[in-house]
Amino acid sequence: MSSRADVEKQIKRNPHPDFKKVEGSRAPWDKSLEWSLKQTVKPDWKFGDGSNDGGACLKVPHVEIDPYEEGRPAVYNYKLLISGIIPRPIGFISTRSKDGSSTNLAPFSYFNMVNHDPPMFTVGYAGGFDNAKDSLKNLTESEECVINIISEHFVEAANATSINAPYGESEWALSGLTPASCTTVKASRVQEAIFSIEGKLNSTQEFESRATPGKKTGVLAVIEGTRFWVREDAINEDKNIIDPAILKPISRLGGITYGRTTEGLEIPRPDYKETVENNEEAKKFVKAKVDGQ
Ligand SMILES: Cc1cc2nc3c(=O)[nH]c(=O)nc-3n(C[C@H](O)[C@H](O)[C@H](O)COP(=O)(O)O)c2cc1C
Repeated sequence: MSSRADVEKQIKRNPHPDFKKVEGSRAPWDKSLEWSLKQTVKPDWKFGDGSNDGGACLKVPHVEIDPYEEGRPAVYNYKLLISGIIPRPIGFISTRSKDGSSTNLAPFSYFNMVNHDPPMFTVGYAGGFDNAKDSLKNLTESEECVINIISEHFVEAANATSINAPYGESEWALSGLTPASCTTVKASRVQEAIFSIEGKLNSTQEFESRATPGKKTGVLAVIEGTRFWVREDAINEDKNIIDPAILKPISRLGGITYGRTTEGLEIPRPDYKETVENNEEAKKFVKAKVDGQ
């Protein structure tokens, strides 16, 4: 058994011995749910009010966890973090080996954007270069990829591509998704995706385990976006806003759970000049010190 399969066994990601039975007992997908905007919890919140639950959240104590405390398996930190840092965006990444003989398509939820000029994205790969996933192998070799955003209408197909297929076997055919050509990179984008980004590798950084010194446990890839593709019914005339009602993005929660985004709330970003300088009450707050701050 490979070490990656060993780790997967330890994680016990799927909590259901008979997954199909459990899924069958659940309500079906609610097609009627449409994207909508709601009020915030407390629309009359003002500076100094703190939480919107009247302080109820302060009555429950916290548990302190040292990630490397005696007897705590390192995999517990993985399970804790993927269940607590949620929802995570998912980069659905398409890559191609340099000679074009092998392609890879897989989802990665250690993913985010970190800059917009230039557009920069990060992906975290589990395993070091000595144990690189196919996607990382292709990315470092070709220095190119496409980041696709997963929408509700192809979530099952996207999940299927996370299969631990041997290098060189095609996740494209297995998923039934459609490759479409790109302009600045050789890898294909996913035509079903509402939003895709062509990207070039900027840099990588390898991480070493603290639990097992010497063992390489992950690689951060920084990718620069070189072209955007947005389905035409999802983009506005200025080509600067994507409609969440069309994008219907799927996010990653803990374990084997995904999330959908069907509700939003808007809160204006406070401007100091407008909201504090001309407000005596607010001015008192910014000058004050709170015990323990
Ligand atoms: C929703 C989802 C998110 C994932 N996120 C990550 C991730 O952030 N990093 C990672 O190394 N693997 C992640 N995986 C696992 C990879 O998709 C999986 O190992 C895939 O087969 C990539 O391996 P390959 O490049 O060898 O094909 C994720 C899987 C799923 C289903």
